[in-house]
Amino acid sequence: MPFHTIIEPFRIKSVEALKFTHRDDREAALEKAGRNVFLLHADDVLVDLLTDSGTGAMSSAQWGALMQGDESYAGSRSFYRFRDVVQDLTGFAHIIPTHQGRAAERILFHTTLSAGQVVPNNNHFDTTRANIEVEGAEAVDIVIPEGRVPSAAHPFKGNMDVAALERLLAEAGDRVPLVMVTVTNNSGGGQPVSLENLRAVRALCDRFRKPFFLDACRFAENAYFIKLREPGQADRTPRAIAREMFSLADGCTMSAKKDGLANIGGFLAMNDDQWAERARNLLILTEGFPTYGGLAGYDLEAIARGLEEVVEEPYLRYRIRSTEYLGEKLTAGGVPIIQPPGGHAIYIDARALLPHIPPLQYPGISLVNALYVEAGIRAVEIGTVMFGRHPDGSETPAAMDLVRLAIPRRVYTQSHIDYVAEAVLYVASLRESLRGYRLTESAAALRHFTARFEEMADTG
Ligand code: F0G
Repeated sequence: MPFHTIIEPFRIKSVEALKFTHRDDREAALEKAGRNVFLLHADDVLVDLLTDSGTGAMSSAQWGALMQGDESYAGSRSFYRFRDVVQDLTGFAHIIPTHQGRAAERILFHTTLSAGQVVPNNNHFDTTRANIEVEGAEAVDIVIPEGRVPSAAHPFKGNMDVAALERLLAEAGDRVPLVMVTVTNNSGGGQPVSLENLRAVRALCDRFRKPFFLDACRFAENAYFIKLREPGQADRTPRAIAREMFSLADGCTMSAKKDGLANIGGFLAMNDDQWAERARNLLILTEGFPTYGGLAGYDLEAIARGLEEVVEEPYLRYRIRSTEYLGEKLTAGGVPIIQPPGGHAIYIDARALLPHIPPLQYPGISLVNALYVEAGIRAVEIGTVMFGRHPDGSETPAAMDLVRLAIPRRVYTQSHIDYVAEAVLYVASLRESLRGYRLTESAAALRHFTARFEEMADTG
C-alpha cells in the first residue's frame, strides 16, 4: 500500500461522554483530594492517563465472550478455555488464575520467600517490591546502567545487567530463591528487554540453579519491540516471539489488566509441581478455588480472548506507534522524556524539567498536579514519593523523578493525544512558577496511593 498513516485498527461501537470542567473546579477538587490525584473522583478528570491497567476498551468479541462465561464454582468450562489459551502462549504446566497481578505476586512470594532472602529484577514494580519486603526479603534492582539515565539511547533499556546478576548470584546466591525480569520494564520507563538478554539471564539461572520468573504484564508490547529492534527478529510474528520469551522462563506473574486486554484479572504460572501445589493451597485460602481464583467465569473468557487479540500485529503496530507519537511531540517541544518512548507510556523527566524543586520536595507531584489543574489530565508520579521511603522509615531520593502518562489500550484517539501534547507543552512553559510539596499524611507502605500533600510556599 502507498500509505504510511498508521490508523486505529478498530472502529468505535460504544462511547462514553467526557465531563468538561473549569480550572477553578479542578483546583477545588484537587485541594479536597489532599493534592493527590489518586484521591480525585474520576468524573472530574478529562483525560485519564493515571494507568494503562484495567482501563482498556474491550473488543466486541470480548464483550460477546462474557455471555459465554460458565459460573460453575469448580471445573468451569471458562477456566479450561482460559487455561488452554494461557498454556498455548506460555507453555507453563500450571496455570493459576488470580484477581490481578499483585495477587499472583503475593502468592508466589509468600510460598517461596523467607526473611533475609534477596530477589533480583531489572526493576521491581511497586507492588512487586512491596510483596517481597512484606516477607522480610530484599528487592534488588539491577537494570543495565543505560536504564537509569533518561536521556541515554539504547534499544533495550529494560535489559538486566547480566554482570551484576552474576556477581549477586556468586556472592549471595544461597539467599536468592528466584530471579525475576519485568517485561516491559514499567518502573524504568516501559522499556523492553531483548531476547538476547533473556537468554543470558536463563543461562545464569541454569548455572546457579535458580528458577527464572517473568513479570509478564506487558509481554506483547515487549515482543513487538523485539520484532522492531532485535537483529534477526523482523520476520517473526509477535506471538512467536512472545512464546520464545516465555519458553526461557520457569514461570510468570501476570496482570491481565495490561496485555490481557481485560478490566480485571491475572495469573501465576509455573512449571514446578511443588511450588504450584503450595501456591494453589494459598490461592484457596485468599482468592478462591483453583478454577476461578478470584475471578468470575466471564472474566476468564474476556482474558482468554484478550490474550489472543493482544498479539495481533495491527494492534501492536498501532499501540507502539501511538505512544511514540506522543513522545515525538513532547521531544519536539523540548520536554525531557525517557528516550526512546516506552510501550505503554511516556515518562517525563520531572527532575530535569523542574531543576529548582529538590527531589525530596517531589518535582513529580508538582508536575502531576499542574497537569491536572491546567488541563484536567491525570498522570502519575513514579519517583521519590513512590520509591523514596525505605522499610526502616528513612527517605532518600529515588533514582529518577518521573511523571508517567500511561495510555489506556484502545481508548483515546489521536486528537485526545494531540490535546495531551498541547497541554504538557503549556505546563512546561509555566515551569518556573511550579513549586515543591511536603507530605502531610503518609502510610508506611505504598504511600503514594493515600498520601496527602501541601504545596510549599517557596522552594530552596
Ligand atoms: N507488575 C508490573 C510491571 C505492573 O506494572 C503492575 C501494575 C503489576 C505488576 C501489578 O499488577 O495492578 O494487576 O496488581 N501496574 C499498574 C500500573 C498498576 O499502573 O503500572 P496489578
